[in-house]
Amino acid sequence: MWCSIFSFLLLILLLFLFRPLAEFPAAVPRVKRSAVLPLRFRHDGTFKILQVADMHYGNGAVTRCRDVPPAEAARCSDLNTTRFLARMILAEEPDLIAFTGDNIFGASATDAAESLFKAFIPAMQSKIPWAAILGNHDQESTMSREELMSFMSLIDYSVSQVNPSNGDLKRIDGFGNYNIMVKGAFGSELVNTSVLKLYFLDTGDREVVNGVRTYGYIKESQLAWLRNNSQLLRGSSEQVALAFFHIPIPEVRDLWYKEYRGQYQEAVACSSVNTGVLKTLVSMGDVKAVFMGHDHLNDFCGEIDGIWFCYGGGFGYHAYGRAGWPRRARVILANLKKGKKAWMGVESISTWKRLDNEELTKIDEQVLWSRE
Ligand SMILES: *[C@@H]1O[C@H](CO)[C@@H](O)[C@H](O)[C@H]1NC(C)=O
Ligand SMILES: *[C@@H]1O[C@H](CO)[C@@H](O)[C@H](O)[C@H]1NC(C)=O
Ligand SMILES: *[C@@H]1O[C@H](CO)[C@@H](O)[C@H](O)[C@H]1NC(C)=O
Repeated sequence: MWCSIFSFLLLILLLFLFRPLAEFPAAVPRVKRSAVLPLRFRHDGTFKILQVADMHYGNGAVTRCRDVPPAEAARCSDLNTTRFLARMILAEEPDLIAFTGDNIFGASATDAAESLFKAFIPAMQSKIPWAAILGNHDQESTMSREELMSFMSLIDYSVSQVNPSNGDLKRIDGFGNYNIMVKGAFGSELVNTSVLKLYFLDTGDREVVNGVRTYGYIKESQLAWLRNNSQLLRGSSEQVALAFFHIPIPEVRDLWYKEYRGQYQEAVACSSVNTGVLKTLVSMGDVKAVFMGHDHLNDFCGEIDGIWFCYGGGFGYHAYGRAGWPRRARVILANLKKGKKAWMGVESISTWKRLDNEELTKIDEQVLWSRE
């Protein structure tokens, strides 16, 4: 009897002693902390999105930085990516954070779930709603694309979804095709109306086309979903949309010969397949701008057929970059039109970037779209 009490106490003691060693607290079931939905414009008529492209998170403190000045290398790890994210959130206080893929760099992540979780810690702590999609590197660790997307949808304050839940659409290619609606400001006629729509799309990882390896791309099933979705709200001229996906479309290459704002420092690494994404977006009419990642040394915005295509610019320290060219993030601001008494629909979309330096220097501010 005493012996069993003693062993019981010993067990308790051991559990207590080893508790701090566990990475996460004991498995106490806990439901996901959800963001306050629907998303909505603020009282000042704005809605701000922070785009984070290519964090390339590995294992955290032990994962080294790539392409930083030699003097910095010894003290640089994934924690610098964490720190940059936390500082950006503090500086901009966005209403939504959009992670546009390659959130983790699978090849450097021992455990995909753990890396993802670590990568999103500043977002979780901020309690700001966040949406993520996949890049081409996320699945190179211990989880499939479907598992990753599903896991990301379950983390605190995430508004990410695996795929559309509605519908007659029997099958949609990829994982992480969804949209998020932002309603008008409180006190306005549009309080119950979605005035800004955000489309998230999966551009896949790699494909083999006629025996040749190339990058992934948006498939016809996804375009069909987009078209159907934009039609639902047609008739309301208030509808303004933005799209987010990882791998650029081939037409972005042509901006080299046109006008763009920001840096165009490397070839656009898109798929050799062109499925007519641009044509679909143009015919939909609601999408005013697209935000992409993938090419870390490009951070420009350029207009193609009336739609803006903007890179986020490389964010993560374990991602390739250019030593001395600061990691950066993009901010997107939607403004409502001021009516006589209250806020109306979206009037303009503007953007800028911030560099990860002491001042978080703001650069390349520009208006992408405004209602005539
Ligand atoms: C990474 O973070 C450390 C510690 O906060 C800092 O000293 C170092 O300068 C950072 N490195 C870079 C490249 O930002
Ligand atoms: C189009 O979207 C609506 C509403 O979400 C859905 O009910 C319908 O099944 C969709 N149609 C197709 C063809 O996807
Ligand atoms: C918005 O919806 C709420 C709840 O259904 C309703 O009470 C309110 O009158 C609606 N407001 C407008 C402007 O449509």
